[in-house]
Amino acid sequence: MKFSYFIFHLLILQDVYSNSIINCQLRENCLEEEVKKSEFPDGFLFGTSTSAYQIEGGYIEDGKSLSNWDVYSHTNGSIKNGGNGDIADDHYHRYLEDIDIMESLGVNAYRFSISWSRVLPNGSSGPMNPIGIKFYNNIIDNLLHKGITPFVTIHHNDYPQELEERYGAWLSPFMQEEFVYFASTCFKNFGNRVKYWATINEPNLVSELAYMKGIFPPVHCSPPFGKCSYGNSDIEPLLVVHNSILAHAKAVKIYRDQFQVEQRGMIGMVASAYMYKPMTDDEVDKKAATRALTFHVAWLLDPLVHGDYPIEMRHYHGRKLPRFSYKEKLLIKKSMDFIGINHYSTLFVKDCLHSNCTCMHENNPTCSHGENRAILGFLLTSGQNEDGEFIGDPMGMPGLYVVPQGMEDIIDYIRKRYNNMPIFVTENGYGSNDNQEGGYDLDKDINRIKFHKAYLTSLARSIRNGANVRGYFIWSLMDNLEWNFGYTIKFGLYYVHPLTLDRSPKLSAHWYHDFLINNIQEKKSI
Ligand code: BGC
Repeated sequence: MKFSYFIFHLLILQDVYSNSIINCQLRENCLEEEVKKSEFPDGFLFGTSTSAYQIEGGYIEDGKSLSNWDVYSHTNGSIKNGGNGDIADDHYHRYLEDIDIMESLGVNAYRFSISWSRVLPNGSSGPMNPIGIKFYNNIIDNLLHKGITPFVTIHHNDYPQELEERYGAWLSPFMQEEFVYFASTCFKNFGNRVKYWATINEPNLVSELAYMKGIFPPVHCSPPFGKCSYGNSDIEPLLVVHNSILAHAKAVKIYRDQFQVEQRGMIGMVASAYMYKPMTDDEVDKKAATRALTFHVAWLLDPLVHGDYPIEMRHYHGRKLPRFSYKEKLLIKKSMDFIGINHYSTLFVKDCLHSNCTCMHENNPTCSHGENRAILGFLLTSGQNEDGEFIGDPMGMPGLYVVPQGMEDIIDYIRKRYNNMPIFVTENGYGSNDNQEGGYDLDKDINRIKFHKAYLTSLARSIRNGANVRGYFIWSLMDNLEWNFGYTIKFGLYYVHPLTLDRSPKLSAHWYHDFLINNIQEKKSI
């Protein structure tokens, strides 16, 4: 090691060791001063989370067909630096190593998703791919062998491109039947070992990105939200969520009628769950913050618990909002055994019903990351208020801010609105853009540790207040393809080397390990 490099490293270490978080690893009693695993109920699932397209690679191997994301990522300019999921983290070939990593971390659960185009390359109109099935069987069996509970998301953004071409995918009611076929295939093949099923990941966010802003496939939007060749930003997101709700409920019915008694698992849906705070003390902004929660979170969850969309949404959208028939209402009501939430950030909300929010111009802080979002109920969301003050420290991932209190607040909202149903925090993570020339400093990971400690402390408070939270999954096990940001934004506890794809624990992996083995006498090293 060169001397200058050695001194440089020493300085960094000195700086790092002066931080109490690192001291935590060195002091015997430190975990007693901080959030502790013992503050969470027995049987609580502590895991990491990933999704198929973001980590697997193997994009045309062993019978897998092209997915919507394969096609999108191969379209010039879609993903930062020309990134794609062709190889990603090569988890398709390295899953055993990744399961070993999870074992050494000390997690007792792992949330991952199934690549639809690997298992059913042509959807319901073609044969099942036995090699795809075998791949997920191997993952499940190896997880169980290591004492790690599989928590499976059936659909997380990627579907066979053929379904896009045949029906227009989620815009079409035919996609409901396709999804039911896919979900049933999963229950049949994996359900004897999988006890936690999440049907669909975040339709309430994906609909906005793909059909309002047009920045996810199939790139649909209309002005003023974006310039796409197709789309209607006011209507399509509503249709997509409608079809997703019905697809979920139909799959749940099959699970409950045909599999659940024997397989004894739980099934739910995962919602994107931002927390919202009024930008000012004005009554209209306070109402707008409540409206944002209704139009973002309750839009998806109310139908699945109470059997219909929130009345406020009907009031604002009128006939644009699709209706459920009487029979459909019965089907969707109480169609979840648990609520999954992905919570990252809190945003300020400004009312646009009573004030002028023409926010499409730059240099206005209130407009930097939000717009007059029709599907959110005519309001504007932003990480900054009108004085330019941030709601919390910005993460490297644009649009996300560190606001730990938001965790307790969003759980509180869900607990009260949904009769304290079981909740899993299926994603929570810190997105950094710490790309460094000439390598990555694994020790420079203090912000991620601070983030998780603070959010877990907030979560522990909500549990003390009576919330029925059953699990917490860190997004993500390892750095991976962060959708449009490609490999430039990193959420992982493990760093993945861009050329060798070797995995190395960051400081946050060491911290999570310490946290998880808190109650175990003998510490295993990571
Ligand atoms: C998604 C993940 C994504 C993460 C960070 C969540 O909304 O489910 O796939 O990587 O956010 O952006």
